Amino acid sequence: MKLFVDTGDIEEVKKAASWGILDGVTTNPTLIAKTGKGFKETVLKICEAVPNGEISAEVVATDYDTMLKEALEVSSWHPNIVVKVPLIEPGISLVKTLSDKGIKTNVTLVFTVSQALLAAKAGATFISNFVGRVDDLSEDGMLAVADSVEMVRTYGFKSQILVASVRHPLHVVQGVQAGAHIATMPLKILEMLFKHPLTDAGLKRFLDDWNAAGLHILE
Ligand code: G3P
Repeated sequence: MKLFVDTGDIEEVKKAASWGILDGVTTNPTLIAKTGKGFKETVLKICEAVPNGEISAEVVATDYDTMLKEALEVSSWHPNIVVKVPLIEPGISLVKTLSDKGIKTNVTLVFTVSQALLAAKAGATFISNFVGRVDDLSEDGMLAVADSVEMVRTYGFKSQILVASVRHPLHVVQGVQAGAHIATMPLKILEMLFKHPLTDAGLKRFLDDWNAAGLHILE
């Protein structure tokens, strides 16, 4: 599973990148707006911070012609940029156009397997199935993820299913169980993946016993 961090905050990106296991970054207009900085400067700093990462940057127009202009502009900024496109009718047309041009895309705001099917048929590189926003409505957002993973496998689509709108580590566990290709999440949830009380207790016991024995590695 690829791990992406979902943020526009460059310091958060740098922290996640410091572990050496970060595969990319997803942003969206809300996350970029929160930075208080310019879109292009923020995205380019993120590309610099994650040299081999796949960096999603979203278009904001909702008509095909302007979406295409925005997509070509954004994708020209850096070779690692993936153009993020909302699942609306002109968005699917745009994904088909970009796919035919060899430009990577991330179709976002996907909530059903039927939406994911449209994105896969258009040639989406990534399909962002939102989970948390469905769970927020007392429904099981992970169901569409599992169905979407099965759909791309059944029909041999190249699209990768990306678990998005992740609210807690269990969403990551469930994404793994569903066979999702990627999970993107806020830094605080990535940090939670490290944590287990038995890890902390076990390390304490190791170090207490080692120190009590007066042992050293470095003289
Ligand atoms: O950025 C896409 C997605 O991860 C947003 O999640 O938490 O705003 O529902 P959230």
